[in-house]
Amino acid sequence: MCGIFGIVTEKDQPLGSILIEAARRLTYRGYDSVGAATISGSRIDLRKDVGKVDEVAERYHFAEMTGSRGITQLRWATFGAPSQVNAQPHLDSDGDLVGAHNGNVVNNVELRQQFMAEGMTVRSHNDGESCVHAVERYIDRGYDFIEAIRRAYQDLQGDYAYVIGQINDDKLYAVKKGSGLVVGIGEGFTCVSSDLPSILPLTRKILRIQDGEIITLWADRVELRSVTDGRLIEREPERVTETMEAVQKGGYAHFMLKEIHEQPQVAREVLHRLAGSAEVDQALAAIRNARQVYFIGCGTSYHACLAGSVYFAQLAGKAVIPVLAPQFIPQYLPAVNRQDVGIFVSQSGETKDVLNALQAAQAQGMTCLGLANVIGSTLTKATACWLPLCCGYEISVPATKTFTNQVVTFLYLAYRLAGKDDRPLEDIPALMEQTLSAAESQIQAIVPAINPWNDMYCLGYGATYPMALEGALKLKEITYAHCEGMLSTEFKHGPLSAVTDNYPVIFVAGPQDVPLIVSGINEVTCRGGRAIAIGQEDSRLRANASDLITLPAASPEISSLLSVLPLQLLAYHLSVERGYDPDFPRNLSKTLTVD
Ligand code: G6P
Repeated sequence: MCGIFGIVTEKDQPLGSILIEAARRLTYRGYDSVGAATISGSRIDLRKDVGKVDEVAERYHFAEMTGSRGITQLRWATFGAPSQVNAQPHLDSDGDLVGAHNGNVVNNVELRQQFMAEGMTVRSHNDGESCVHAVERYIDRGYDFIEAIRRAYQDLQGDYAYVIGQINDDKLYAVKKGSGLVVGIGEGFTCVSSDLPSILPLTRKILRIQDGEIITLWADRVELRSVTDGRLIEREPERVTETMEAVQKGGYAHFMLKEIHEQPQVAREVLHRLAGSAEVDQALAAIRNARQVYFIGCGTSYHACLAGSVYFAQLAGKAVIPVLAPQFIPQYLPAVNRQDVGIFVSQSGETKDVLNALQAAQAQGMTCLGLANVIGSTLTKATACWLPLCCGYEISVPATKTFTNQVVTFLYLAYRLAGKDDRPLEDIPALMEQTLSAAESQIQAIVPAINPWNDMYCLGYGATYPMALEGALKLKEITYAHCEGMLSTEFKHGPLSAVTDNYPVIFVAGPQDVPLIVSGINEVTCRGGRAIAIGQEDSRLRANASDLITLPAASPEISSLLSVLPLQLLAYHLSVERGYDPDFPRNLSKTLTVD
């Protein structure tokens, strides 16, 4: 997730340190490149490159940058590889406009072709540059700035926000369509940013921007206009009183809840990133030619490996071995060779158990690919080809959004391997939103029935089996109850003896497995247990289960992905109900760099 920040002041002054600090406060979103531009009279000073904020700022002496207006941007690569030319901000053809964006312009490839055909100078492959040229196109045709932005809005498809300025002017402009944008109003300056943490050290007087609004920022005032008809919008500024930590939680009580609700957005980001990615082609070619494929990870990431192996088999007819990383060495290493491929999966990219398996596999000549969230982590440096999870920072110890993006990535790879039309996957973000909004009240309603129990089961079958394991892990991590995840059909082979009156057993039902799940439900309910089903609306589940948490209609594979969201919410609400801090559970660490 990229981040943008712009500031307008009354006169030329040192802006470098303000831009560096604003950039630092956006780093939580995750990034690979950093850039800054200042505008002073007829001069634009633009400096940018791949790297960390402090590194790039030092290398390019950001601290010495001066001007009356400034823009900084952190980029997380989607269109165009991480490189200096693709880093933001970007100039227009003749270098008198400068701008930067956050989000995805999905018709970027077509727009670049158009801009080049119209004779504009296109320097990068990045869609932020397309925002600048889209405005340039109409400025060059004689439209004023607001009108140019309104027309550009029609041309730029996708979800994004951008900030842009021109030489010999005293303003910056910004527009919001789908990505976050907040304005700050200070004494003698105004600013605009993707998020509050970069604004609050400067001012607590803010304006929240809505989609379809254009903002003009002067040093002493701001003006909001509707992109639809250009009319002025009146909005009173508000004063932010929360602490910085509360602000970073984005209005949610905990990071975990915020991250649960970020899942639709990050799923959209990773799907954009995967489409047309050269690394995907490379990974698929390796998998197609492999003698044997392994998916290797620990904890939550292992559950994603398990889900991936089910999708690969069911959708692409490809058998893959999912392995817990420490077991890879004793069980599989003696059998692997150069014809085998391993995908090493890790949110942090630093889990020692995973890195040990990677090192051993590389020594044996196996082709090793990576799937990681933290760019620059050891896993991303040690694998020649790796795919980013595009989740931004995940702060809460229990993984949520990184798990679902691991699963989305495997689903995408399985579709591509099978040669299936992957367009149905574009529905995932909207389906996740529906799932979350429907599940919230249904989950809260069953928490009191589960709360008295410190022992329970979570069962699934086929593609919902990994989700049941993941739900059980979430419950164990943050509620301190023992919840065993299991294949639903195994429950009768022993664990059934645990069932007494009201004993909770959660069944995660795939739409194609309802008859089998209904049998399992009855084995529990006829012994007095409470069977809580998670599945699509179905009269058989409705009639047999004690409770039904409903999922929206979707294909079996997408439905399995959706089913983990209510489980995350259940773990979260039960943890809070018990008075625990779900973000920082006792004894656990987000990154385990020890054996
Ligand atoms: C730790 C964390 C888990 C995580 C596991 C693997 O145990 O507490 O939440 O699933 O490590 O982490 P990774 O960063 O490799 O995905």
